[in-house]
Amino acid sequence: MTTTYAVLSEGLEKRFGAVQALRGLDLAVASGTVCGVLGPNGAGKTTAVRLLTTLLRPDAGSARVAGHDLVREAAAVRTKIGVTGQYASVDGDLTGRQNLRLFARLHRVRGPAGRAGELLDRFGLTEAADRPAATYSGGMRRRLDLAASLIRRPEVLFLDEPTTGLDPASRNLIHSAVRDLTADGTTVLLTTQYLEEADQLADDIALVDRGRVAHRGSPAALKALIGTHVEVVVVGAEVMAKAAGVLDHLTGARPTFDHERNAVGAVTRDSTLTLPRLVRELDAAGVPLLDASLRPPTLDDVFLRLTDDQDLKEAAA
Ligand SMILES: Nc1ncnc2c1ncn2[C@@H]1O[C@H](COP(=O)(O)OP(=O)(O)OP(=O)(O)O)[C@@H](O)[C@H]1O
Ligand SMILES: [Mg+2]
Repeated sequence: MTTTYAVLSEGLEKRFGAVQALRGLDLAVASGTVCGVLGPNGAGKTTAVRLLTTLLRPDAGSARVAGHDLVREAAAVRTKIGVTGQYASVDGDLTGRQNLRLFARLHRVRGPAGRAGELLDRFGLTEAADRPAATYSGGMRRRLDLAASLIRRPEVLFLDEPTTGLDPASRNLIHSAVRDLTADGTTVLLTTQYLEEADQLADDIALVDRGRVAHRGSPAALKALIGTHVEVVVVGAEVMAKAAGVLDHLTGARPTFDHERNAVGAVTRDSTLTLPRLVRELDAAGVPLLDASLRPPTLDDVFLRLTDDQDLKEAAA
């Protein structure tokens, strides 16, 4: 079976004056999947979203979105996508309901009142529906903005930091909306600062650094690049070397020392290493233990390590 891509970009470039925001962005998002775009502040995530949603023209490179050429068929792309940005698009003078009805009419949706009511309900805005949007809290505005982007049931939905600053309940509403959409076949590209969120929602992650995709893969594959962190705290400084010998033997990795805490650490990609085995081996070697732990990698580790390594590479070049 051949994979079809809802978003496929090659070599996208964008410069703002002296700032080269994108320097050859290659993205491939399979239809019906969620792609999480992660990266440090200023990496180019919002620029990528603005390009891929036709709000900005690329300086170079090309992309197909929902089967259409981004530049030559921009109008067709627009009819198939939804977008909610870091900057809300709703009108504060209108009520939530009026905003959604207006969007529905603009997009010639059949039964605009019904569709508006359905979306208000889905995003927990029914009670506030007839108040001006200007009186909404930040989280309510964000939910209204997302509802507006769904008016037309987009094929591809772009969400730029959809949950930044939201409380857990609002965040959950948005997460379940994303899951429902993908269950219906919608493709979602979302940027986020919350690695936990990407871990839960994304099938694939593109780690953007300085205008390029530095790494990509499933959350599990990216974590496997990093490995599990093993740490033991021993009773006296004199047995640290012995503990290091055991860790070296078990992990094949060079141990690191924290002399203040009498701790020895190492990273392993061996997923069969268990805590009981670690403790048994240290015990057999006669190492008096205060504490031992195995910490599976989080996406935070991946993020820090991989963006760090990029620094190292550039420093070495
Ligand atoms: N309209 C603009 N004019 C000038 N510079 C811009 C403009 N838009 C973006 N930039 C610059 O391009 C770079 C990438 O910005 P972008 O907003 O895409 O980053 P981001 O990854 O979304 O960051 P954040 O995590 O802070 O949202 C930054 O250096 C930014 O200052
Ligand atoms: Mg941004």
